[in-house]
Amino acid sequence: MTAQDFILKTYTTNIESGSVKWASPSNIALVKYWGKKEHQIPENPSISFTLSDCKTITEVTYTKKESNGFSFEIFFEGKKNEAFKPKIQTFFERIETYMPFLKDYHFKIDTSNTFPHSSGIASSASGMSAIALCLMSIEQELTQTVIEKSHFNKKASFLARLGSGSACRSIEGELVVWGKNESTESSDLYGVKFEGDVHTNFKNYQDTILLVDKGEKQVSSTVGHKLMFGHPFAKERFAQAHTNLAELKTILASGDLKRFIEIVESEALTLHAMMMTSMPYFILMKPNTLEIINKIWAFRAATKSNVCFTLDAGANVHVLYPHNEKETVLKFIKNDLAIYCQNEHYICDQIGLGAALIKN
Ligand code: DP6
Repeated sequence: MTAQDFILKTYTTNIESGSVKWASPSNIALVKYWGKKEHQIPENPSISFTLSDCKTITEVTYTKKESNGFSFEIFFEGKKNEAFKPKIQTFFERIETYMPFLKDYHFKIDTSNTFPHSSGIASSASGMSAIALCLMSIEQELTQTVIEKSHFNKKASFLARLGSGSACRSIEGELVVWGKNESTESSDLYGVKFEGDVHTNFKNYQDTILLVDKGEKQVSSTVGHKLMFGHPFAKERFAQAHTNLAELKTILASGDLKRFIEIVESEALTLHAMMMTSMPYFILMKPNTLEIINKIWAFRAATKSNVCFTLDAGANVHVLYPHNEKETVLKFIKNDLAIYCQNEHYICDQIGLGAALIKN
């Protein structure tokens, strides 16, 4: 498939108004996307667990209009929000070719998250995928046909990617691959549900997000990805992501938790190593991030638990563990790790099935 296949060619503007609503989850990468080319094309493939409870819920109301140009307003948690406007403006500019009706309607975007806004959890994946899905439902209304589900999901993911790369992995569950590679069916243009075998060890996998730093990100992802241009280790890193993805595919089938932990933790630390060795360089981990990592390693050594961690481009820690260890690991988090979180705040989540339509 090419980008051209996503251009909407015929549609009606006889529909005066309507509204659609979607809930779309966040996701957590196991093999990380870090570095991109023009048009939001990733430098390397990535794979993520789709989350279940950390979601953005977005309603888009559309009303026909006459004048040229984009017209939209955004409400975040019921209040008008100007700060999100430039991001949506850029998003509309990027996707207009594929959705020519964007200038025929005024859009009221009402959005909220199930997780606290100031938690430091990246909301761009859930937020951008939720809007993309709403726009796809509107496209469906305006074409007055039923868009085949696989095309609907592909195009929603394709659009979400143009909003924020990782957002393309939030449409479906439980695991999604994005970025061309030899070992799985995949595309640079959109995320693809991972169809390989998944061992029962990975069913209902748990992710507890420890909120070490709820502040604004020190480095935006846009700036972050740019750090990989001319990075001294870029070539090796991109190659490593291919190797790790290929091995993870085998691990997911065999249920080898020990090797899973090694790859996932190494990916997280490599992501941060890339930031520490770029120019300019950044340290996004905080002292408490390291405290938590050390505590997890000590707990694992002492108890033979399969708990492990991964990180985003920030200080918060995602604690990953099998469902059958839920009770013991949650006790460990409550007793030993919560003190390293801001206001002892953490969020319990698990693998989910992807986005859900709330209103059409
Ligand atoms: C570290 O998807 O936020 O979370 O495409 O610029 O919006 P943009 O970047 P974004 O980058 C996420 C990077 C990451 C790793 C990952 O999710 O794979």
